[in-house]
Amino acid sequence: MQSFTFWNPTKIVFGKDTAGQVGKQAAKFGQKVLMVYGQSSIKKTGVYDLVKKSLEASSLQVVEFAGVKSNPVLSHVREGVKLAKEQQVDLIVAVGGGSVIDESKAIAAGARTDGDVWDFFIDKATVRDALPIVTVLTLAATASEMNSGGVVTNEETGQKFNIGAPLLFPKVSILDPTLTYTVPANYTAYSGVDAICHLVEGYFTAADPNTPLQDRLVEALVKTVMESTDRILVDPRDYEARATMMWSATLALNGLTPAGIGPFGFPNHMIEHSLSALYDIAHGAGLSIVLPAWMAYTARRAPARFARFGREVFGISEADDQQAAAKGTAALKAWFERIGSPTTLAAADIPATDIPKIAANAVMLAKKWRLDDYTEEVIGEILQLAR
Ligand code: NZQ
Ligand code: ZN
Repeated sequence: MQSFTFWNPTKIVFGKDTAGQVGKQAAKFGQKVLMVYGQSSIKKTGVYDLVKKSLEASSLQVVEFAGVKSNPVLSHVREGVKLAKEQQVDLIVAVGGGSVIDESKAIAAGARTDGDVWDFFIDKATVRDALPIVTVLTLAATASEMNSGGVVTNEETGQKFNIGAPLLFPKVSILDPTLTYTVPANYTAYSGVDAICHLVEGYFTAADPNTPLQDRLVEALVKTVMESTDRILVDPRDYEARATMMWSATLALNGLTPAGIGPFGFPNHMIEHSLSALYDIAHGAGLSIVLPAWMAYTARRAPARFARFGREVFGISEADDQQAAAKGTAALKAWFERIGSPTTLAAADIPATDIPKIAANAVMLAKKWRLDDYTEEVIGEILQLAR
């Protein structure tokens, strides 16, 4: 096991009917709230009324900022920053999924700087101050509710880049599984893919083989995410499955599972961000295209981790590592297909002739994330396996 520092200051309030506590929780951080939300779901589901009532019952003044799109964009972040500054809000209450929370993090940082918010994404500036954030999660996938990162697309440059800073951990996140009953089947599937990909990025890319605890945590969480997703697709109002999925997705990217594994990369996310930046597809849908191809490509040279994954998660009994790795990858891909997430570029209507364009875009993030082995050629070869 490698040395590490684990620090996660987000308070989690988890359970049935907890969303009504948002006012009480938010009131600890100020009086004037910027309530950030997405396109239309919270008004349809009643979550908007619930949150607004709770905030007002705690005598909070609410300024609304709606319209965050899935795969949030910089121009909308800038509007939010302007409003937060004009209105001099004390805190942000983010009500939605990863997109709303990510955009809220960018607004939180942007509201407390005189510079341009995009500078934080391109490492030209460091976040030294930010508005406090309280979240009410309505879609369990990204773990943005319990981590310090956020992802936004700059429509002018085509870069889907991340912001990250300790100050951007939400202060409190309310995880009420009943709010996710209305998440449609497609996003339920994409969420399962995303949580699994968060877990395996470190599992597959860290070099230290002496990580039995971390390995088993990942394998248990992957199996649990698959089982819960299967159950939710049968019955979207299965409370136990929604609750298990919600907490599993949070644990998948809150820093717990990679603690002690040493340096690791996020190559699948690096490539996927170009798919959602260029084609505006759902993040999880992009990952189910990239991950099986990346696994096949990477296992060619070093199959042992992939073989272990196949054996532990899918019960593959092949003794040969290459074969066990190939069968494990095929089993994961088959599960992605069964739940309705695309596994080829063609299935997402992305022409194979675009591969050089996608690779050229992805390499910008590879540079930022110092994934130096991922040249345009390598990324192109991986994508060729996903045609
Ligand atoms: O906009 P509305 O109308 O609210 O609809 C949303 C959206 O269309 C809808 N939705 C959310 N909750 C719902 C609901 N529909 C019905 N009932 C509910 N309870 O679902 C759609 C997708 O929402 P979105 O927030 O975009 O999904 P997700 O949580 O998967 O977030 C995706 C974004 O997060 C980024 C992704 O790149 C993508 O931009 N990520 C953030 C990470 C982080 N901060 O740590 C890590 C991830 O790897 C990821 O990159
Ligand atoms: Zn992800």
